Amino acid sequence: MEEVGIKGISKIGEGAWHSVYKIEKIMEDAIVIRIKKKKAYGQLQEFKELDLKTEYESSKAYYGLANQCSVNFCPSFFKYFLDESIVFTVESFMGKGRRIQSLNHIEAISLGRKLGVFFQAMHGKSPGIKGFGNLVWNGESLEGSVQKDSAQIWQADNHYYVSVMHKLIAADLEFDRDIIVEKIQTIIKNRRENQQTISLVNQDITPENIIFDYPDVSLIDPFPRLDFNLKYAGYFVFCYKFLLMAYSNAPRYQKNQYHENYEVLSKIADGFIDGYIDESESLYKQIMDEYILWTLLETYEHYEMLSKEKLSQKTVLQMGNKDIIHQRLKLCLEYLVNLCRI
Ligand SMILES: Nc1ncnc2c1ncn2[C@@H]1O[C@H](COP(=O)(O)OP(=O)(O)OP(=O)(O)O)[C@@H](O)[C@H]1O
Ligand SMILES: [Mg+2]
Repeated sequence: MEEVGIKGISKIGEGAWHSVYKIEKIMEDAIVIRIKKKKAYGQLQEFKELDLKTEYESSKAYYGLANQCSVNFCPSFFKYFLDESIVFTVESFMGKGRRIQSLNHIEAISLGRKLGVFFQAMHGKSPGIKGFGNLVWNGESLEGSVQKDSAQIWQADNHYYVSVMHKLIAADLEFDRDIIVEKIQTIIKNRRENQQTISLVNQDITPENIIFDYPDVSLIDPFPRLDFNLKYAGYFVFCYKFLLMAYSNAPRYQKNQYHENYEVLSKIADGFIDGYIDESESLYKQIMDEYILWTLLETYEHYEMLSKEKLSQKTVLQMGNKDIIHQRLKLCLEYLVNLCRI
């Protein structure tokens, strides 16, 4: 291999969708090949060209914007290949990273802060893709699946939270309804007057997709969409303060033992807020409100899941069986009530 400038090839990772190999070179930076698995979540995956194009063009768009915000935060090289027989990406190797549990609190805050600064910069960039919502490849370029006026979308977004709140209030569950109604109504009243910016946001910010390599941190495998900026800053906080820990009993996440590392995760969230808000108190408040709104949605999603006759295999892997979902619903409700009390 040395004659062609390759020092070694090794398997470095395996997610739900890709098997990942690193190719180390003698004179150049290492690269990674991510080969799409034929089977994911126990199901054979059909070759759907448009979906694959959408997926990889979305990553490409995200990395393109990320590279304008910061050097080395995301792969600077990214190409993909699609064929019925094989689908893969070739991209920059972003480092090995350290396990979450090996980070001390100071390191966790510092890396969280870098993430906050990065996301704030990303959210401030014009996405260069029109529309809102999930991205779709239209044959020539990416676009958002919703093409409406942003004020209208904002109105519908606010309305959605209110409708979920009403459905939760009507549910046969025991909890302090007044506290939730009061808080959500206050948040939404304030939110209606402060329309957020549509940005290219990342829906998959779990630690497996972030390489924590103190003092550096980088981000891989994004799942972008067009959505409101502070809503997704709040999503990061929601994930690292609550969601990852709450899901550590779901089969898909069990091995990560997030419940044992909730303090480190929480410090990453603290650093994130600090980096994102850059001392703005009003941004702090808005992000905390978004964090509460995500908790509301999560709580209701759990309630709704329990009313289904049968859960899909994917849902059981990602959320757990009905007993686990029931337990987590109680946890979500308690957490939501506590957040609304503050
Ligand atoms: N560019 C990269 N540089 C360094 N490591 C990488 C890179 N891409 C992937 N990895 C490693 O491989 C692992 C799995 O990769 P990746 O997240 O791309 O798989 P996936 O199947 O798409 O993920 P998911 O299960 O999150 O959908 C990562 O957690 C990381 O450890
Ligand atoms: Mg991943």
